Amino acid sequence: MATVQNPYKTTGILGWIDDRFPLTKLWKDQWGDYYAPKNFNWWYIFGILSLVVLVNQLLTGIFLTMHYKPDAAKAWDSVEYIMRDVPWGNIIRYLHSTGASAFFIVVYLHMYRGLLYGSYRKPRELIWVFGCLIFLCLMAEAFCGYVLPWGQMSYWGAQVIISLFGAIPVIGGDLVIWIQGDYIPSDATLNRLFSLHVIAVPFVLVGLVVAHLIALHEVGSGSPDGVEIKKLTNPETGYPLDGIPSHPYYTVKDMLGVGVFLIIFLGVVFLAPDGGGYLLEKPNFQEANPLVTPNHITPAWYFGAFYAILRAIPNKLMGVIGMFAAVLVLFTLPWLDRSPVKSIRHKGWMYKTALALFTIAFILLCYFGMQPPTPEGTLISRIGSFIYFGFFLFMPIYSKLDKTTPVPERVTYEAH
Ligand code: HEM
Repeated sequence: MATVQNPYKTTGILGWIDDRFPLTKLWKDQWGDYYAPKNFNWWYIFGILSLVVLVNQLLTGIFLTMHYKPDAAKAWDSVEYIMRDVPWGNIIRYLHSTGASAFFIVVYLHMYRGLLYGSYRKPRELIWVFGCLIFLCLMAEAFCGYVLPWGQMSYWGAQVIISLFGAIPVIGGDLVIWIQGDYIPSDATLNRLFSLHVIAVPFVLVGLVVAHLIALHEVGSGSPDGVEIKKLTNPETGYPLDGIPSHPYYTVKDMLGVGVFLIIFLGVVFLAPDGGGYLLEKPNFQEANPLVTPNHITPAWYFGAFYAILRAIPNKLMGVIGMFAAVLVLFTLPWLDRSPVKSIRHKGWMYKTALALFTIAFILLCYFGMQPPTPEGTLISRIGSFIYFGFFLFMPIYSKLDKTTPVPERVTYEAH
């Protein structure tokens, strides 16, 4: 049989594999020879950190599933069993539960980098759209996972969120029963949320992450100045003049970032896994009881902003629409921004003020979404909701009117 010559001229076991499977090609295309701007700052670490947390969730999730029982009569006890009797079980569970919060922290910061540097602008619209779909999946995944321990907040959180579908005219009531598989959250509900959490949503999530990265590597990474490095290439090699290969440069930088992240993350996992009630809420240390409603049913912190928007709108149906609209509006961002420049470094005071107001509004919404309702909280949530939607809806106007500064030819970079 004639041997197939692989273009990388690899030998030994690697050569044998490369003749049959494009291992070296994949490595070079996706990382080794992937040229990224040489001036990435630390805002660019959160994509890799999202990948690290994704792997953590998948691995710890596999081990939790080995001992967890998706049965309303046994779920709570099986989680107690994991915490007390399974070797390393408490660490594995806390890695997973704290990992959920870590996921949202790094993904929110990753998205915020997009707002800072216009990473969603042409030609990266699809990367952003895949990102928004990932974010939707992440929310579904976190909601389903939160119900599984079958604690008080799991149960009542599920009850509140599923009953939101009841606000839909005509079919709402039947839809709630269909989703729950019963008249109240019950064993049937737990079973289907388990199946979604363990199989369906992770499957879609991983697929979307792959699509996200394929799209990224097709168009290439943006830079903090908004300079497109592919425009200026070395005529001999064809490589971007302002780019460096991800390996070894970003391999080393990312390892440092991942190291610092792990120190902080593991510090929380080992020393304060419940985050003072913010990461694991106190009512969830009691078993679910359909006859006793907790004093305040509040969502996990990462849903706070969206829950605050829901509560800020007096009409239930409009509240539900407002909450979903708050997520869906993210998809349209690439087409709302009409600025001639991408990065905040070259945008004017209008975008900077809008982003500052949006940031403050989002943090306040997160906070008040987690608190029991009060008149002041409702007022602040209403103002916050206006700012949240205003940031997006007025963007086509203020991003066009804003005074911008010229984007340089080359990226700004100081060797250290
Ligand atoms: C599981 C979740 C996610 C993972 C694992 C992930 C992974 C990555 C990685 C590794 C990069 C390249 C490095 C970097 O630029 O940071 C990246 C880039 C990017 N991501 Fe994500 N991402 C996730 C979620 C999201 C979400 C929710 C959004 C927005 C809604 C988003 C938007 C983007 C954009 C626009 C870029 C391109 C940045 C540029 O080149 O300027 N990603 N992502």
